[in-house]
Amino acid sequence: MTPTSVQAGGRRAGFVRAAVLESVGSPAVITELRLAAPGPGEVRVRMLASGVCHSDLHVRDGEWDRPTPIVMGHEGAGIVDAVGPGVGSPRVGQLVALSWLVPCGVCRACRRGQVWACPDSPSFRHRMLDGRTVFSRGAGGAGRAGSGADERGGADEGGLAADPILSYCAIATMAEASVVPAAAAIPVPDGTDPAAAALIGCCVTTGVGAVLKTAQVPAGSSVAVIGLGGVGLSCVMGAVIAGASRIVAVDRVPAKLAVAREVGATDTIEAGDDPARTAEALRDLTDGGPDFVFEAIGRTDTVELAIAALPLGGTAVLVGMTPLGQRSAFEVYPLVDGSRRILGSNYGFAEPAIDFPRYAAWTLDGRLPVDRLIDRRIGLDDLEDAFAAMRRGEYTRQVIDFDHG
Ligand SMILES: NC(=O)c1ccc[n+]([C@@H]2O[C@H](COP(=O)([O-])OP(=O)(O)OC[C@H]3O[C@@H](n4cnc5c(N)ncnc54)[C@H](O)[C@@H]3O)[C@@H](O)[C@H]2O)c1
Ligand SMILES: [Zn+2]
Ligand SMILES: [Zn+2]
Repeated sequence: MTPTSVQAGGRRAGFVRAAVLESVGSPAVITELRLAAPGPGEVRVRMLASGVCHSDLHVRDGEWDRPTPIVMGHEGAGIVDAVGPGVGSPRVGQLVALSWLVPCGVCRACRRGQVWACPDSPSFRHRMLDGRTVFSRGAGGAGRAGSGADERGGADEGGLAADPILSYCAIATMAEASVVPAAAAIPVPDGTDPAAAALIGCCVTTGVGAVLKTAQVPAGSSVAVIGLGGVGLSCVMGAVIAGASRIVAVDRVPAKLAVAREVGATDTIEAGDDPARTAEALRDLTDGGPDFVFEAIGRTDTVELAIAALPLGGTAVLVGMTPLGQRSAFEVYPLVDGSRRILGSNYGFAEPAIDFPRYAAWTLDGRLPVDRLIDRRIGLDDLEDAFAAMRRGEYTRQVIDFDHG
């Protein structure tokens, strides 16, 4: 592949196959789209792998407020095959993991150095940093796709392609190739498995970071993790690295408990329909309650369970995300009287340029057995099937493999 043409799978030059969400609540459509060349400060990435994260399902099902039409996916890795003007890093040929949050740099959170909390990340506008879109249906001219604020701007005299399409979190990883802000494309060490690099782009960083960075779990602590998808299992792996003395893994699906043991859980609980019984089992296993409980599902009842299971001085770390607008309740007196804490953790407090290469190095030296999380490799066409399986609680992490065929 040359830096100037994208012809994956024999596609027309400049076109790639991508998963497009035309409107929330409807199936993702796999279609050929025109992909613009990278502009200043942008790079093109030939995608090798994209994880299917439950956040993609929240978006697909309309549980969050996201604009359409949009190319989906936010957990990806690939090879840089073209760089726009002024880009020093990454370089052509480098393997990069993609960050779904490029900080704005000027808000209060960014100025405090808490880039993971940036509420105004340009990534959340699902466009390049200058407001352009890079995908289009290609009915118009041969130039760059879209411009300005008009979501549905058609072809114009400047050669802009018709019908621009947004890029989820400005990275749109569920496409054979994507053009992304250079700041979102973080080089990882040679030899990193591309699928592991993809997972570092979301679930690994989210879960490991929740333990090591958000909660800063001290060695010897007891830890519970509720929900054992890619995010929860990454919390388990993080707890191993933190030196937790006890790691209790909780899920409804027995197969997930087995994987949790493989990556370091010391105990498991098969959750039934009664959260009170799960809380009791947690207390029994951890001398009155785990010092840290990580909720990695995003359900109001398991959030309440995480808080209710805490011992004196314990900490609940909320990692899972509910549909917008949902509320959980807790009893105030024991929370205050027992100096218990509730922490929210976005993106594992990630500083991607520092954390991605570090986590990748840990996959290489065996400290993060990310390969154990990946139990299904699929093609782009299988995305809706993957969503259906995720709804049923099947598979720990499904990964789109762009060489799959
Ligand atoms: N905080 C962040 O920055 C961040 C980043 C990524 C994902 N997330 C969120 O984390 C959550 C988990 O993501 P994932 O991709 O790992 O999801 P997943 O669907 O792969 O895993 C969820 C797990 O929870 C289990 N589960 C469901 N209901 C349960 C119950 N009542 N009791 C016990 N177990 C139950 C399922 O069997 C499954 O194993 C999602 O809400 C996602 O949006 C948050
Ligand atoms: Zn995710
Ligand atoms: Zn900011």
